[in-house]
Amino acid sequence: MPHPLMPPEAAIAINDMLEHCARIQPGQNVLIVAAPDGLHGGRNIVDETAIAWVQAAVQQRGAHPTVMWVDMPVRPNVIWPDIPTKDTIWRVPPVLKHAVKGADLVISHVLDLSSEEETKEWNDILSENKVPMVRNMATTAPLLCSAWARTPHELISEIRYRMAEMMKPGDRWQMTHPNGTHLEGSAGEPIRGGDSYAYWRHDGRYRPFPEGIYPAVNPLDTQGVFVCDRMMPVWARHIGIPPRFSAPLRITVENNHMTKFEGGPEAAVIERFLRELAKTVGDDYAFEIRGPHGGVHPCASVTPAQCPDEDYREFIASFHTGAVHMHLGRGGKNFAYNLHTAAEARGATLVVGNHTLHDNGRLGVLDHPAVRAVAAKYPGRPGLDGERWLYG
Ligand SMILES: [Fe+2]
Repeated sequence: MPHPLMPPEAAIAINDMLEHCARIQPGQNVLIVAAPDGLHGGRNIVDETAIAWVQAAVQQRGAHPTVMWVDMPVRPNVIWPDIPTKDTIWRVPPVLKHAVKGADLVISHVLDLSSEEETKEWNDILSENKVPMVRNMATTAPLLCSAWARTPHELISEIRYRMAEMMKPGDRWQMTHPNGTHLEGSAGEPIRGGDSYAYWRHDGRYRPFPEGIYPAVNPLDTQGVFVCDRMMPVWARHIGIPPRFSAPLRITVENNHMTKFEGGPEAAVIERFLRELAKTVGDDYAFEIRGPHGGVHPCASVTPAQCPDEDYREFIASFHTGAVHMHLGRGGKNFAYNLHTAAEARGATLVVGNHTLHDNGRLGVLDHPAVRAVAAKYPGRPGLDGERWLYG
């Protein structure tokens, strides 16, 4: 123990992850990372069964798994006031840093090692060592069995790529929602450079599983009103607000900058946090609004039985096709975290150029021939018919 019989649902998900996301090769040294706090109610949710299953599957493919249970530093959830600097932020445990040096591939189950939302040090370690990381977000046995994890990785990757292909620098974009949101602006050059928003992740350094989101529009001249009622749990925790707000937050946006915050207690805390952030990154960056982008996973929804943690269920749901978010504030090089204050208006409509990317959960690529072709390769798996697989 712990290695109970693996149900077919988990075998489907893990094989898909290793084949299409990790692209694992025989002979590779694979570092599988988990944190013990997540076994006992901590934020790095995990179970021993999931780790044992992933380890066995890696071994079965002729690769060499090493499982590392590593303690993450104990620290306050809220990062302000006195936002840590690069010198004072929590450090990646040195033993883990050294283990990465000997790995060809990392499979992480640790929320604190999110390269999108946590310390930049982790990204630096991975890139210095040129080691790709699979971020397995299906960190428990029940999550590995979910329709969310069993949806073909290739299909979500195809949807993600085709969504990004619809966005072109110079396009006008518009985000609306019955809650009063009306934002518009134009799309600048993609943040990662080049002139195309679309890129594949399977040969990249960062390989999330399940896949769930496409690159954000780099917005120019954004104007209007953004009304949201929830935030990605990692940054809600860092700021000290609940992921679901007690009252909608209404932000006035002028020329890409947030000029007015209205709403309940969360509105006041977010504004105070951004004022504190401004001491590190300056007013211009702290009050800049960025995005939009959204979820591309038709089955990103799990039940309390599959995941008792409400915040983690909310995190998973942020990858659903109905999820569209903006980012509040920009980090910049003086900031030691990857800033991802993803404030969400679920069910929004997002139009870029003459493409409707999201329309209350319906994606603009459902009839794309390439998406249809990949979906046809996986009969009997959850896919574009996500609503048929929800709650299972
Ligand atoms: Fe985002």
